[in-house]
Amino acid sequence: APRSRGAAARPTTPVEPGPPVQEGTDWSAWPTYNSAELGFRNYWYPTIWAHQVQQKPVPITLAGERIVLIRDGDTVRGLHDRCPHRGVPLSLGRRQFPGTISCAYHGWTFGLETGRLDAVITDGPDSPICGKLSVATYPVEERLGLLWVYIGDVEPGEEPPPVERDIPTELTENTLVLGGRSEVRDGNWRFGAENGFDEGHAKYLHNTALWRLFKVMPTWNKTRIVEKDGWLIRVQDELHYEAEFPGVGTFTNKRWWKRVPLPDHPDKNGDANPVIAAMDIPGFVSVRMPGLLRVAYPKFIHYEWYVPVDADHVRYVQLMVRFETGATALAFKAKYLSAFRWLFHGQFTRQDAWMVNVTDAPPERLYRPDLSINAWRRHVEKLQPVVQPTERRVGH
Ligand code: FES
Repeated sequence: APRSRGAAARPTTPVEPGPPVQEGTDWSAWPTYNSAELGFRNYWYPTIWAHQVQQKPVPITLAGERIVLIRDGDTVRGLHDRCPHRGVPLSLGRRQFPGTISCAYHGWTFGLETGRLDAVITDGPDSPICGKLSVATYPVEERLGLLWVYIGDVEPGEEPPPVERDIPTELTENTLVLGGRSEVRDGNWRFGAENGFDEGHAKYLHNTALWRLFKVMPTWNKTRIVEKDGWLIRVQDELHYEAEFPGVGTFTNKRWWKRVPLPDHPDKNGDANPVIAAMDIPGFVSVRMPGLLRVAYPKFIHYEWYVPVDADHVRYVQLMVRFETGATALAFKAKYLSAFRWLFHGQFTRQDAWMVNVTDAPPERLYRPDLSINAWRRHVEKLQPVVQPTERRVGH
């Protein structure tokens, strides 16, 4: 079918039948990444806020797996959200006995810690099926006010890696104050991650964001990508241009352009970015596995996790962190709740969400600024993480 409506509207113009899309690049150069529609195994992922799990069990989907989060005193447990009897979600169940959940349908009762079938209320105390089966359990940890769930293979009697492995060290080793949002958005997690690290969009898509009035945006120019401590870091010399664009006219990026002070690129007063310097963070924008972006502004750091939900949904966890205590911390919290939450974690990143939802690649044709996207995909190929299979059956 012809792609151009204009051509189709003029019947006298012969139209060559052609492929429905232009020739472009598929993702075969990144086979691991290409198959990771549901993300990677053997990582801890941030999910919902701990305070969201109270008496009522809360169902979530993570990397295509249905999980129910259940509060058990001070801790939160994670179980596969499917009763092995007839497949009813355990998240609909009753909390009748301490440390257990009973399926709402026939009262099969599972221990929260072990996932084992401990009692079958409708089959009497001598029910022979008791203790014969269990539902899969998921390691859950609370950090930074969020519930972190481990998706991976833990052998019986073994422990998963510590959750700190998957949280940036500056967040676990310092006193801090934070504000944040965790919400499920449309689109695959990879488009979220690519959008976050994609420097071509920041000053164009977000040119209408109110947040732009207050903060600098990174832009593409003479970018190099370096790797340090598991992070991919964009190192840039931003350039101001006013140029003739052939066939388009004169255009300047003056309104967008503002130098970001970096340790090796001090601003005009000779100052380096104080947060970057103090935290020994090597760049303004960096990304790491399993899909975390870090943007180090001079006074705070913004983090975005792109957590796979299913093929078409991504959990977008945003944190804005200041390493302060006392009155400064309180003032930051107040500013976050009254302004930043709406300007930055709202209007600004909803522009990203809009694009993540409508991105339709591959096929794709890349351009110079996409070297950051390519670097991210290459990084994944180099690490060879375990891909979460698209058909995965959990439990017994
Ligand atoms: Fe769960 Fe029957 S379906 S007890």
